[in-house]
Amino acid sequence: MTGLAPGRALLVRDLAQVATPAGTGSPLRGRDLGAVEVIEDAYVLCRQGRIEAVGRMRDLDAGVGDAEELDGRGLCAVPGLVDCHTHACFAGDRVEEFALRAAGATYEELHAAGGGILSTVRATRAAGEAALRTAVGRHRQWMLAAGTTTFEAKSGYGLDRETELASLRAIRAEGGIPTWLGAHAVAPEFDDADVYLDFLLAEVLPEAARLAEAADVFVEDGAFDAAQARRYLGTCRDAGLALRLHGDQFTEQGAIEVAIELGARSVDHLEATGPDGVRSLAASDVVGVMLPASALFLARPMPPARALVDAGAAVALATDFNPGSAFCESLPLVCSLAATQLHLSPAEALAACTVNAAHVLGLANEVGRVAPGFRADLTLLAAPDWRYLAYHLAGRVVAGAVVAGECAWSA
Ligand code: NIG
Ligand code: FE
Repeated sequence: MTGLAPGRALLVRDLAQVATPAGTGSPLRGRDLGAVEVIEDAYVLCRQGRIEAVGRMRDLDAGVGDAEELDGRGLCAVPGLVDCHTHACFAGDRVEEFALRAAGATYEELHAAGGGILSTVRATRAAGEAALRTAVGRHRQWMLAAGTTTFEAKSGYGLDRETELASLRAIRAEGGIPTWLGAHAVAPEFDDADVYLDFLLAEVLPEAARLAEAADVFVEDGAFDAAQARRYLGTCRDAGLALRLHGDQFTEQGAIEVAIELGARSVDHLEATGPDGVRSLAASDVVGVMLPASALFLARPMPPARALVDAGAAVALATDFNPGSAFCESLPLVCSLAATQLHLSPAEALAACTVNAAHVLGLANEVGRVAPGFRADLTLLAAPDWRYLAYHLAGRVVAGAVVAGECAWSA
């Protein structure tokens, strides 16, 4: 751990490579998604939490003598990874259910029998706000050790006013970007989805809109339908929240259409998306967030990533970290899955979990690139080539991270 006094500078020097998505705009689509700038034998100079300069060692200005130095020999730097879809605020675990699934039970069967999401709801309600904050903090450390320097996290394991709002506060207190997912499942106290949504909109939304950046809804058989999502998200938008949807995870239920109609930031999952969905998403401004660790964990089909990118859709990658469908906090593993299962190049995977993920969170001018003016967030890879990010399957590829110009950890 290295602490820096405010105003001090950090020079990360002698890096084998710095790799960053090219260009300045967001989200990146089509060919632009795979354009990465690589600087060999490089440095990154950080000052007051921002990137001041990036370049080749031979061009390093000798006048940076006041900077603290971090030895980058044998390392590559990429932008601090951005996880734009997690459910990191939960208590308990689902290891029993995991074992049942391994023996043949399906995720949908467990959910329908009152397990699944609702079993985590019971544990999360019982935990209390202080324990939830501790849990988010622990999960944040796991994510940081895997190279994630910016994370979004959703509520959605409270489904009552008190626990939903406590979850949003816990996420914010631990440095996450909170998304309100009150509409994750129908709370056990309600037997009608519309009556539950009425409760959420009347009793929870006014305070949730102050605490969260976005609202999210799970559009699926057994959760909420497209008409319910439209009504719910429309009211959330009017309250000032950005919009996200869980859509096409198991079946196509019209989530993409609702996302486009309401100008949502993203529609996430897409494992069941067919050719029409690919076409309409590609013609829209909605980002398709793909979660291959979740598809892997549930042994489900992978989303049509190649078709989406080739059709011109804006895509992002995220972990979906949660106790039931993706107990995985590793974006490097997600990049490996992108390269091996989704037929994306390492460069496309990098852009999808940096600049495009930042775009989903409304932070594309702040994080997601190694360029002057951006927050000085770097993920340091123990590798001679930055593509080890995707290449080293489940390896110890992350050697450290710089967060806002401070060395947050190093191996
Ligand atoms: O994104 N699909 C809905 N929600 C989560 C899973 C939550 C859980 O199983 O606890 C997801 O996969
Ligand atoms: Fe999710």
